[in-house]
Amino acid sequence: MQQQTLQQLIALIDDKLYSLQSIQDSESLEAFRVSIMGKNGLITQAFSELSSVESARKKELATKINQAKKRFDEQFLAKKQEIFQYELEIQLKQEKIDSSLFYARGFQSHGHPIAQMRDMIIDYFIGLNFSLQDGPFIEDDFHNFEALNIPKFHPARNMQDTFYFKDSMLLRTHTSPTQIRTMQTSKLPIRMICAGPTFRRDYDVTHSPMFHQCEGLVVESGDHISFAHLKYILEDFVKHIFGEEVNVRFRSSFFPFTEPSAEVDVSCMFCDGKGCKVCSHTGYLEVLGCGVVDSNVFKAVKLDGVSGYAFGMGIERLAMLKWGINDLRSFYETDLRILEQF
Ligand code: PHE
Repeated sequence: MQQQTLQQLIALIDDKLYSLQSIQDSESLEAFRVSIMGKNGLITQAFSELSSVESARKKELATKINQAKKRFDEQFLAKKQEIFQYELEIQLKQEKIDSSLFYARGFQSHGHPIAQMRDMIIDYFIGLNFSLQDGPFIEDDFHNFEALNIPKFHPARNMQDTFYFKDSMLLRTHTSPTQIRTMQTSKLPIRMICAGPTFRRDYDVTHSPMFHQCEGLVVESGDHISFAHLKYILEDFVKHIFGEEVNVRFRSSFFPFTEPSAEVDVSCMFCDGKGCKVCSHTGYLEVLGCGVVDSNVFKAVKLDGVSGYAFGMGIERLAMLKWGINDLRSFYETDLRILEQF
């Protein structure tokens, strides 16, 4: 009786091996393997049946099981390789990258001076526990203007030549809408930066329709955040980028979303502050805009009893000053002779 069962089991194994041919994917293949070699698999069962077989036939039957196992091993391995190859080809087809496509998030290269400057900026602020936030390039009027205290017909809209779409959507003119989005979605305290492309209708030696900004925002509950915090951190930041030896000065300015507002200047690195063509003989170059967040901005995002500061900078501008690049357009000409210098 036992012997018959065992004979049957061995026959079953061979029957099963026929069905191997029709398997097409690794999941079914694994189920197949378990049905033969698993804890309750046919071969496992056959070997355990062997113990109750009379000793005269043991050797013969054991050989049969081992032969069946060998057939299984060979056919299984061949099938496994076939499926692996097949699935790999499918995967490669799906993951095919068209390297000629524009990468929406902007930065793939690590050697381009804009990417290098962006990374220097991000490194500094990440080191101070700022988080890195991202926002859409196509923005609505509320996030790009309204919530930043730039209502319709406000003259400040003229400061930013905007690309509009039909449905009052627009290409963000600065990274500041990301401030608004972060305040709408994050818990306090907020300490964030955002770096990425921005768009304005401008094109000459120092302007390009697409350029990059980095924005920073700190908001905490209470009224203790002041201009002093902003001044301390930005002075340190500017020296981090341009070296300890530069002088940094704050010049009062205007932004609708900050009050008081300032522009940050660094002593001209081309003439050591003595005055030259680059700095229009002033000895200083403007590098940043900043200020204490205007209470109207907090109202727009329904935050009460908070204080904060914000700052924004052009990444191209910092890179041009840092590495003495005098035509902004050379950033985008993909001229290897320029890129190879970085
Ligand atoms: N968004 C301003 C610009 O594009 C820069 C800025 C950001 C100024 C934050 C102050 C505070 O010019």
